[in-house]
Amino acid sequence: MKLILFGPPGAGKGTQAALVCESLAIPHISTGELLRAAIAEATPLGERVRAIMAAGQLVDDATVIELVQSRLRAADCRRGFLFDGFPRNIPQARALAAAGVAIDCVLEIQVPDESVVDRISGRRVHEASGRIYHVRYDPPKRPGVDDDTGDPLVQRPDDEEATVRDRLRVYREQTGPLAAFYRNLAARTDTRYGIVDGSGSVAAVRTAIAEKLLQQ
Ligand code: AP5
Repeated sequence: MKLILFGPPGAGKGTQAALVCESLAIPHISTGELLRAAIAEATPLGERVRAIMAAGQLVDDATVIELVQSRLRAADCRRGFLFDGFPRNIPQARALAAAGVAIDCVLEIQVPDESVVDRISGRRVHEASGRIYHVRYDPPKRPGVDDDTGDPLVQRPDDEEATVRDRLRVYREQTGPLAAFYRNLAARTDTRYGIVDGSGSVAAVRTAIAEKLLQQ
C-alpha cells in the first residue's frame, strides 16, 4: 500500500499517519521529521534548512526530492509506505510520478483554520521519536514528559501563532492545488482520492480513515 496523507498544518497528519502505519506495518515517511532530524543532528542540510522551516516556508524542491528518493531506497519501503507532508506542491508531485512511484490512495484531511491554530498551540512533541501529544486533546500520562522514555516534551519552533498563519498561507497557495492534481490523476488511473473530515476526535478521524482505506 502506497499512501499519501495531505492537509493543512495541524490537520492531524502525523497523528493519524502513526496509527495507519502501525496497523498496516508500513513505514511513515514524514519529510518534516526527516528535515527536523537533520537539524537536530546539525548536518549541513539541517543548517541550511533551519531558518526556512522556522519561518514556515517550504524547503527547496530539489533538496526534498533527493531526501525522499534516498528514503525510498531503504528496504522497509518495499511493502509500501505512507507519505506525510510530501508532496507539498505540484513540482514535487510530478517528480514522484516521473520517478515511477504509483500511489494507491491519496487522502486529504480537512479541518478549519481555527482548529489548526488551537491544535498547534497545544502540540508537544518528543524530539527523538517524533511522538505527538496535545496538552488537552491527547495528553501524555504525566504532563510534559514522553510516555515511553520519560524525556521532556518540547514545542516546535515553527508552532508560534504568527508562523502557523504563514504556514496556512503557504499551504493554500502551494499545497492546495494538489487536491485538483490528484483528483485528475484518480479520474484516469488506479490511484484513489478521498476526503476525510479531520475535525472530530483522534479516534473519530482514525475510524474515518480506516473506512476510506477499506473502500479502496
Ligand atoms: P511538517 O512537519 O510536514 O508540518 P505540517 O505539514 O505543517 O504539519 P504539522 O506537522 O504541523 O501537523 P500535522 O498535520 O502532522 O498535525 P499533528 O498530527 O502534529 O512540515 C514542517 C516544515 O518542514 C514545513 O513548514 C517546511 O518548512 C518543511 N517541509 C516539510 N515537508 C516539506 C516538503 N515536502 N517540501 C518542502 N518543505 C517541507 O497534530 C497537530 C496537533 O493536534 C497535535 O498536538 C495533535 O496531538 C493534535 N491533534 C491531532 N489530531 C487531533 C484531533 N483529531 N483532535 C484534536 N487534536 C488533534
